[in-house]
Amino acid sequence: MRYQRPRGTNDILPDETPLWNRVEETFRTLCKRYGYHEIRTPIFEDTDLFTRSMGEHTDVVSKEMYTFTDRGGRSVTLKPEGTAPVVRAYVENNLAAQGGLSKLYYITPIFRYERPQAGRYRQAHQLGVEAIGSQHPALDAEVIALAMHFYRQLGISRLSLVLNSVGCPVCRPTYRERLREFARPFVQELCEACQTRYELNPLRMLDCKREKCRALLHDAPDIIESLCEECRTHFDALRQYLDGLGIPYVVDKHLVRGFDYYTKTAFEIVSDALGAQNALGGGGRYDGLVEEIGGPPTPGIGFALGIERAIIVMKELGLAEAKREAVEAFVAALGEEATLPALKLLQALREAGISAETDYQRRSLKAQMKVADRLGCRVVLLLGEDELAQRTVTLRDMVTKEQRTVPLDTCIEEVLQTVRNA
Ligand code: HAM
Repeated sequence: MRYQRPRGTNDILPDETPLWNRVEETFRTLCKRYGYHEIRTPIFEDTDLFTRSMGEHTDVVSKEMYTFTDRGGRSVTLKPEGTAPVVRAYVENNLAAQGGLSKLYYITPIFRYERPQAGRYRQAHQLGVEAIGSQHPALDAEVIALAMHFYRQLGISRLSLVLNSVGCPVCRPTYRERLREFARPFVQELCEACQTRYELNPLRMLDCKREKCRALLHDAPDIIESLCEECRTHFDALRQYLDGLGIPYVVDKHLVRGFDYYTKTAFEIVSDALGAQNALGGGGRYDGLVEEIGGPPTPGIGFALGIERAIIVMKELGLAEAKREAVEAFVAALGEEATLPALKLLQALREAGISAETDYQRRSLKAQMKVADRLGCRVVLLLGEDELAQRTVTLRDMVTKEQRTVPLDTCIEEVLQTVRNA
C-alpha cells in the first residue's frame, strides 16, 4: 500500500459516523439543556499558550506536543487539549464583559504524540465544557452532573466517578513538601520518570502507572488532610451536593490529573470496560488559569470526555447499534433516454424532502432493484420507454410489493404519502 494513515490516527468510515453523530448529538443536546453555548477555537495556537498553562514539566508539554515552526518563524502547536484555547479565547474576546458566568462547550480533535494503543491515539477527539466565572462548588456539581448525565443518556453503565482535591497555591506547596519528605527514603527505587517528578512535580508521582511506584507510594500522605480551610470547605460542599444529587463517587487521594493548571476539584470518570487507558474523561477546577493567560483573576471549571473511549465502551456493552439511515426512494432509469427525466425526478424528490438515490452504473433493472433493496428504499420509481412516452412512472412499494402506474406530475405526492405513512 502506497499511503497509510499516520500512526495513531483513525479513519472514521461511513459505517461508524452514525455512531459518532449520535454521541456528539447527545452531548450537544445536553449542553444546550444545561445552558452551555458552543465555542470553536483554532486547531493550532502559539506553543507558549500550552507550555504556560499546562506546565512545561507535564508529560504532554515535555514529550507529546505536535510543535512546529511555521513559515513566519513562529512556534505553533496543534492543540493537545481544549481548555487553554478556550480560556485564551475567553480572555482575548473579553467574554467576561458579557457579564456573569460563561458556560461554553466544544467538540474538538486533539493531538498528542503518544505511544498508540487501544484507546490512545495521536489524534483523538474530545467533548468538553468550560464554565468560567464562578468559584461556587455548586458549579462543580453541575459540571460533574452533566458529564454523568451524558454517559447515562448513552446507556453507558460500567463506570465510576473518582474525585479528589489538588488544593491551591496556598496549601499545595506544603503538601508537595510532605510528599517529598515521604518519598525521600526510596527515591532511588522509583522509576526514572518519577525521580524527575520528585524534583519537578512530585504530585505526579501519585498517578504513575508502574506497579513498583504504586506500591511505594501507596501510603503517601493524604492531600485532603493538607488542604487549607478554603479548599477543604469547597471539597466538603461539593461532596454534599453530589450526595444530594444522588451521584455516587469514590474519593481517591492518588488522583492528581496531568496538568499544572488544576486547583481544588479534580475528577475522572473511569470504566473497567476500557483497558489500561481506563479514563473515559476528566476535568477539574482551574481558578488561576484565566489570570495566567493574561485575564483578570477569574475561577473556572470544566471537563473533557474522549469520544473514542466512549465508543469503545459502547461497543463493549453492545450499545453501538447505529445503522446508516435508509434511503426512502430509488429512481430506476432504463435506457439513455431516461437519464435526464430520472435526474429531474431525483431532484424533485430531494427538493420535496425525500432522500433518494439512483444508479449511475447503467446496471440492469434486476441489479438496480437489488441496490434499492440494500439501501432500504420504501419506494422504487421506474422510468422506462413506456413511462417516458406516457409521462408516467411505475411506482413500486418495496414493502407491500404493490406496483402501479402514476402520472409523472403527481408522483411526488404519492411517494410522500407512501414513505411518510411507512
Ligand atoms: P485529559 O484528561 O488530558 O484532560 O483528557 C480528557 C479525556 O480525553 C481523557 O480522559 C480521554 O478520554 C481523552 N483523551 C486524552 N488523550 C487521549 C488520547 N491520546 N487518545 C484517546 N483519548 C484521549 C484534558 O484534556 C483537560 N483539558 C480536561 C479539562 C477540561 N479540564 C478542565 N477542563
